[in-house]
Formats: sequence, C-alpha cells, structure tokens
Amino acid sequence: MSSTAPVAFVTGGASGIGLAVVNRWIAEGGHAVIADVRVESLDEAVGALPVGTARGVVCDVTDRASVDAARASVAGTEARLDAVVNSAGIARPEPSSAITDAAFQLMLEIHVTGSMRVCRAAYPLLRASGGAIVNVASVAAIAGLPERASYTSAKSAIGGLTRTLAVEWGRTGVRVNAVAPGYVRTALTDKLIRDGDLNDEPVRSRTPLGRFAEPDEIAGAVQFLAGLASSFVNGHVLVVDGGLTIDGDWY
Ligand SMILES: NC(=O)c1ccc[n+]([C@@H]2O[C@H](COP(=O)([O-])OP(=O)(O)OC[C@H]3O[C@@H](n4cnc5c(N)ncnc54)[C@H](O)[C@@H]3O)[C@@H](O)[C@H]2O)c1
Repeated sequence: MSSTAPVAFVTGGASGIGLAVVNRWIAEGGHAVIADVRVESLDEAVGALPVGTARGVVCDVTDRASVDAARASVAGTEARLDAVVNSAGIARPEPSSAITDAAFQLMLEIHVTGSMRVCRAAYPLLRASGGAIVNVASVAAIAGLPERASYTSAKSAIGGLTRTLAVEWGRTGVRVNAVAPGYVRTALTDKLIRDGDLNDEPVRSRTPLGRFAEPDEIAGAVQFLAGLASSFVNGHVLVVDGGLTIDGDWY
C-alpha cells in the first residue's frame, strides 16, 4: 500500500471509534495503516475496506518493540505519514479500595504511555510531512466517575500529554490535539452495559442530545483535528459529548 494519498496511522483502528476514523479518512481520499493488538479484528476490518486503501499492522501499544516495529513498517512501506490517531483503549471499572497496582498501571500503560510511545515513534515521520496527532481522551477526564479511578487518571493525563507535545513539536510543524468523547456506542460500552458496569438510560437522559454518539460522530471531530481545516488549532482538547458536561439543567 504505497501511493501519494495521505496516510493515517490509527491505533485501536480495528474497532469502534478507531475504525470509524479509518473509514472516514479513506472516504475522504486517504489510506490507513490500522494498528491493533487483535489480529482477527484487524483482518476483518481490512477485509471490509476497499482493496488497497488500508493494511493492518499487529501492534500492542504497551510494548515498545511492537510500536517501533510498526513505525519501521510505516517508514519502509508508505511514502508519507500525515496523521496519527491514538484510539487504542480499554475500560475496566473496579472499586478504588480494591484495585491492584497492576490493574491501575495497565490502564496508564495503554492510554498514556502507549499514546506517548506511538507519538514519539511517529514524530520524525510526521515532522517530514507537517502532519498531525489526535489523541483520544474522554469526558472521564472532566468528571469524577465512581470505580473508574484508573480510567479517569489515564484520560486526564492525555490532556497534559497533548498540550505538552503541542508546545514542544508545534515549532516543527507538527500539531497535537485530542478529542474527549462522551458516551459512544461501541464494543467497549456494549460490554460495560452487558456486564452491569454502565446504566445506559441515565446516560441518555443526562445527555442534552438524548442519546449515545455513533462512532462516526467522533470520527468527524478527529478528521477535523487531523486535517488542514484545523491548521491553526494546536494543543486543544475538543469535547464531543452531546452537551453532557455543560448541562446545568439538573436542578
Ligand atoms: N466508547 C466510548 O463511549 C468512549 C468514550 C470516551 C473515550 N473512549 C475512548 O476511545 C478509544 C476507543 O474506544 P472504543 O469505544 O472505540 O473501544 P473499542 O473496544 O471498540 O476499540 C478499542 C480498540 O483498541 C484495541 N486495543 C486495546 N488494547 C490495545 C493495545 N494494547 N494495543 C493496541 N490496540 C489495543 C482493541 O483491540 C480495540 O480494537 C479508547 O481510548 C476509549 O477509552 C471511548
């Protein structure tokens, strides 16, 4: 898959928000390298896309060697790299009084260190093309959420990472921004609902738009931040939550 089309590297790109980002990027004329830890999902995602527009790279963002190998694959195969989207993630609610160090650290490792690892690896390639990074935070970075201490800590740190890289790398023409989605209908939230860890009805009733987002509605914001339409936006965390976090209509 080598051509002059703009190329996006999307972690967690085999499912949910990441896959929607891939679909949008391709619909607008780009090519995508989908990086995901789950081989079967990767094959399925690539197989469903128009031939020659995407390829999969098995990549675990918690493993530096795996991320560096993915970077080498991109550098060796693609003519360019225009965007990196860090959408790899998991959610594992646990009471804060019982969470283990290992479980807490895993969440930071995937979301924060994983994003940093991918940004660092991709930076030289993005610098060459004047590309952009979009990290994926969450409304969990804004509100305290019971039994989500590891997740809210990790998503809060994405904001600091995004702002710092934006300042450090902006001078070399690489922009770094983030989206903070509200509740989105994906495999991640489906599992939380199934397991009794998320009650979807109050989410809908507390969201002024009255529903969950579709993954493509988050992808629209990512596409904006990744492309030239946002060429002077840098270090911003764009909340895409249907009004959930600004709603004062609860009294
Ligand atoms: N769904 C929501 O409501 C919501 C809201 C706010 C933020 N987010 C964030 O959006 C991102 C995407 O979530 P989603 O809802 O699309 O979930 P999803 O489960 O549909 O997709 C996540 C993808 O990440 C991959 N992944 C997990 N660990 C990985 C690793 N170590 N290395 C590489 N890939 C890995 C999974 O295999 C999966 O394909 C996550 O960071 C999540 O925290 C989701």
